[in-house]
Parts: sequence; structure tokens; C-alpha cells
Amino acid sequence: MNAEAAITQLLREIETYLAAFDHAGVRAVRDGLARWGNGPHKTLRPRTLPACGHLPVALAAMGKHSLAQAIEAALPHLRWITYDAYPRDEIGAAFADGHAFASLVGEGAFRDADDFDLGLFVIGPDILYRDHHHAAPELYAPLTGPHGWRFLPDKTFHTKPADEPVWNEPWAPHATLTGATPFLCIFGWTRDVSSPAKVIFTDEEKS
Ligand SMILES: [Fe+2]
Repeated sequence: MNAEAAITQLLREIETYLAAFDHAGVRAVRDGLARWGNGPHKTLRPRTLPACGHLPVALAAMGKHSLAQAIEAALPHLRWITYDAYPRDEIGAAFADGHAFASLVGEGAFRDADDFDLGLFVIGPDILYRDHHHAAPELYAPLTGPHGWRFLPDKTFHTKPADEPVWNEPWAPHATLTGATPFLCIFGWTRDVSSPAKVIFTDEEKS
């Protein structure tokens, strides 16, 4: 399948997947997808990263899901990068080397957008994505699970299964502790996408 057809199909499957959730944050992401997702296709140079090696296991964990099939068909075309706004010593080597994301709709993505970003995000198993926050309101729609989540000041990690969306309001702290299955999610940032995320130093990380 060529890149344009594969990305078009993947965006359709993402819309179908998200439409099943009655959730304000999901609706905000779907609004952006409807606004920007049908624009002219832009060709990107494909790129993989070490964390992409976890994708086959993550996709297998989704089972015979049409979204998994659409992701698989799009894989040869995706351009994976790391989020480089965090100083490496603040976010930690495990996350810095263990994650990758691929923007589908956004500035410079397959479908251009203004102050909106939607794509796929993968993190290897048993990795802590440390407490952080950002101006952008954020949707995580995890396609695998279970994974641990916490939202300070509650310091306990709570396990959430796959297919249970997480919505983070602007500057709301959050952290993810991935489980034995690699973490794969749809992410959406609905505004303030250029404002960099920041690590939050907790007492336990200082000690
Ligand atoms: Fe976040």
C-alpha cells in the first residue's frame, strides 16, 4: 500500500476507534482530526528507532483488531522520532532510549495542522516515564495494557487496562510505568503543542 493510502486508512481507523468513547477530551481530538486530517498528503522520509522493535509485540497484543492491521500497514511509511525537549539526565536514559513517537497529523506531519498533534507513541516494557507536565491538553488512548499511571499528588501507581483513555488537563502532572507488554497508544495534543513539557521532580526521585 502506498503511503497516502496507508495513512488515510490509519486515520480512518483511529477516528472509528476514538468514536467509541463518550469523553470530552476524545471529542476535542476528534474535532482536530476532522479539521486537519483530510488535508493534502505530505511525503515524509520513513525513520525507525530502537523502540520500534517493540511494535510487533504491541500489535500482536491488540489481537485481530482492524486498527492494529492499519498500523501495521502504515509502519513502513512512519517517521519515528524521540521527544527531545527533556534534558536526558532529567527524564532518564531508560525513557530517552526506550520510546518513540510518530506524528500523523501536525506541523510537518503527513497531514499538516496548526497547533494540533496526533500520532502514535510507543514505550518499551517496564519503563518509567517520569512525572511531567505541559501546557498542552493531552489524550492518551492506550491500545495495550495493563500499564501503571499516577497523577500527583497521589503518588501510587494505578493499573489501567488497554482501551481506557487518559486525559491530562494543561499542566496536570502525570507519569506512566509501562507493564510487561510494550506501551502503544494514540496521543493527541489539542493546543499549545510548541510549549515544551517539563519533568517534575518528586521527593522520592530526589532521595
Ligand atoms: Fe504528557
